[in-house]
Amino acid sequence: MTPRTTSVSLSVLAALLAAGVLACESEAPIESGGGDAMDEPGPPSDQPAPPEEPSPPRDDPPDEPEPPDEPEPPNEPEPPELPDTLSDTGLYSDFAAQTIADDVREFQPQFALWTDGATKRRWIYLPPNSQIDTSDMDFWVFPEGTKLWKEFTRDGVRVETRLLFKHGPTTADWYMVAYAWSEDQREATAVPDGADDVLGTQHDIPRQRDCRKCHDRVPDVGLGVSAVQLSHDGPGLTLAELVSAGVLSEPPAELPVVPGDASARSALGYLHSNCGSCHNAYSDVQDKVDMRLWLTVDGLDAVETTSTYVTSVGQPQLRDVPGASALIEPGSAATSAVVLRMDTFDSVQMPRLGREIIDTDGLETISAWIDSLPR
Ligand code: HEC
Ligand code: HEC
Repeated sequence: MTPRTTSVSLSVLAALLAAGVLACESEAPIESGGGDAMDEPGPPSDQPAPPEEPSPPRDDPPDEPEPPDEPEPPNEPEPPELPDTLSDTGLYSDFAAQTIADDVREFQPQFALWTDGATKRRWIYLPPNSQIDTSDMDFWVFPEGTKLWKEFTRDGVRVETRLLFKHGPTTADWYMVAYAWSEDQREATAVPDGADDVLGTQHDIPRQRDCRKCHDRVPDVGLGVSAVQLSHDGPGLTLAELVSAGVLSEPPAELPVVPGDASARSALGYLHSNCGSCHNAYSDVQDKVDMRLWLTVDGLDAVETTSTYVTSVGQPQLRDVPGASALIEPGSAATSAVVLRMDTFDSVQMPRLGREIIDTDGLETISAWIDSLPR
């Protein structure tokens, strides 16, 4: 029904690479200067994939929403070759001086995930002469060796830096962990079991297995590095730059633009970033609900043709929330399930993890857009 397969055409990419067809030019912005501390770890390929979360049958009583994340998969065993400390991950060329390595690029998704008001910086490393497989423009498949980092600062304190590292050729070969910064900010150490209220803030660092609840519901883990998210002319690595550097296996014919006025664009973008990781065509969440909040490039002609609009505006809920008359009730934020679920801490909270504070700005963005839709 839904395209929930993860078939990867990396073999094609590998063949092209071997033929030297895809070699990047030397001005490629994310080319490696070598000397990466993690170049040769060769982690074991037998790392078990986390067990699938069982999906309850669709015909559950709708008034009893299932806790989606039970039972918990065990924490993945940490491949021993992977670094315990952030200083060994290749992000910095000089850790003491906090110099970011030359072959690492900073990027900013145009629509950010809300994490209780934390501010974030993000970086990407792609191995030299590698390409991102963009044969599906909406769900990129990254080359072996890709590393992504995201640093979190809460209340002015740098609390954690997260790492996603594709240590093998397949989608199952991503290593995910957060590094917790020390009080003196001189080192950050892997915390596979997460940590609560770190460094005197209210920031919680997620456990390894929680990373997967958002990142494993798209075909190849990356969420903020995508055509929609990098199609901007703000600071950091952009889609246009990736195209001109020849890094995308199939460059887009044109740069995707999220449709609508400013209000519609920010609402659609917010739902894409904050909800689309679970609510997209590939996600197992689609077995329970039929709502796709991940923007796909072929639906960007108009607000009304976006996957978000088509699958939510005026659409019935499959798992009823009291007070809501539709997923999005045009002209009525107050009776829209999407809004009611963002504005609560009870069992229907969305998203269920990653936030302990209601995002009042986000809520306003979504509510204003819904209220403006003609009834
Ligand atoms: C609540 C869902 C959620 C959880 C849990 C989560 N992430 Fe993410 N992550 C996202 C989203 C959405 C983005 C892209 C938007 C952004 O960065 O603002 C992202 C971005 C990232 C990035 C930048 C690269 C990219 O994909 O854009 C890294 C690195 C990352 N996450 C690592 C982790 C790790 C490691 C964990 C677990 C310790 C984790 N994340 C837990 C949702 C989540
Ligand atoms: C970490 C995964 C995850 C994220 C992120 C997430 N959801 Fe969900 N969502 C689920 C699951 C699982 C269900 C089904 C269980 C339930 O109904 O609570 C669900 C159900 C829903 C439903 C009910 C749909 C129906 O047909 O009744 C709505 C509405 C919803 N989510 C809105 C959102 C919104 C809005 C966001 C972003 C602000 C969001 N979700 C983010 C996992 C997620």
